[in-house]
Amino acid sequence: MQTGGRVIGEGRYGCAVIPPFLCKDEQGKDRYAADRKDKVGKLALKSQASNEILISNVLRKVPIHKQYFILNDPVACVPLINDASIDDWDSCMASKQKDDTEFKKENIVQITSPFGGKAMNSLQNIDLRPAYFNYFKFFNQLIEAGAIMTLNQICHYDLHKPNILIDKQGVARIIDFGMSFTTQNITNQTLSQRWKYYDPIYDNEPPEVTVMTGLGKNIPLKDCIEQTVKIKPVYKNIQMILLVPNQDSKDELHTFFKKSISASQRNWPKTWSHFWPGFDSWAIGAILLNLLKIQLTFPEFTNSELWIKKGNLIYKILKQMLVSNPFYRIDCVESLLLWNPESVVLKDSASWLYEKQKQKNLIST
Ligand SMILES: Nc1ncnc2c1ncn2[C@@H]1O[C@H](COP(=O)(O)OP(=O)(O)OP(=O)(O)O)[C@@H](O)[C@H]1O
Ligand SMILES: [Mg+2]
Repeated sequence: MQTGGRVIGEGRYGCAVIPPFLCKDEQGKDRYAADRKDKVGKLALKSQASNEILISNVLRKVPIHKQYFILNDPVACVPLINDASIDDWDSCMASKQKDDTEFKKENIVQITSPFGGKAMNSLQNIDLRPAYFNYFKFFNQLIEAGAIMTLNQICHYDLHKPNILIDKQGVARIIDFGMSFTTQNITNQTLSQRWKYYDPIYDNEPPEVTVMTGLGKNIPLKDCIEQTVKIKPVYKNIQMILLVPNQDSKDELHTFFKKSISASQRNWPKTWSHFWPGFDSWAIGAILLNLLKIQLTFPEFTNSELWIKKGNLIYKILKQMLVSNPFYRIDCVESLLLWNPESVVLKDSASWLYEKQKQKNLIST
């Protein structure tokens, strides 16, 4: 019998298949024989799978979660791999085994989630024309999703196009909580589990985290900042579209690492504890700005009534989400307040917004 389907996506830590592999539960009974329809299976390391399930369980408590997230089912199981699916298994695991010895069959489990549509990275520019893609709806959706996570003390930490799905109705939802963390008790362990390589190329990693990683590899602060602003693709758009000179971004990062008490002491758990809400807003800001660059090439977008009405507000919000100094960067709750103060997501946000304002009134943290 065919135990699993075709590989639809491969990431750094996992591999997604449709339908999910047949699975054995703890009692050795077959699972997912009957309920595999419309499900995606993901093979992942046990530690990553349990983290995804933990975060999914927190978000499941939010009544409107289905509008914004594709969450993992609450049980992981051991996939049955037989000859019929060995090609999938090999294509899935080969690249990972090379650089990560943890990727052995015995360390792998399967988690499942409902099928959520196509990942954003698979869309071509043509799919992003206003006739097929509503940038304003997408903007609202991502900021609301970010605000929900922030208000529930969750940092996704891996927001990039492969982790955003669009369904047939054009609704965008966030997936992949493998790197996510709850923010109440950030320790050295929180950092060490998700923070290894120095590579400034990723827009989804906020610049201060890239610089922290570089410092951890004994690269001088000036070089880390120089490389971060030069290499992160979004900085080109911050300069060209938001008109913030790269030199200003570098100066802001220098100011942060000098003036923030926790960052100047190189106390990273404390720095993360203060500034985590800006991590996801940076990543969301980068996705939205990079997409805006494409929209600005379509006359039907730039001539639209909505752009004429909302364009300046969008520039203003993106500029504040993409401030390099995390102290001045707004989080998704603050962005949503600027964008759509009537949003239901802001219903219970008063104390969050009050605390943020209080922090900003302090000279530095
Ligand atoms: N529920 C789903 N519905 C549709 N496609 C999905 C679903 N889950 C995963 N995918 C596809 O599989 C890809 C990899 O899944 P996912 O992002 O969860 O794994 P990952 O290996 O942890 O990736 P990352 O490198 O971001 O950590 C996604 O980018 C997407 O294309
Ligand atoms: Mg992913």
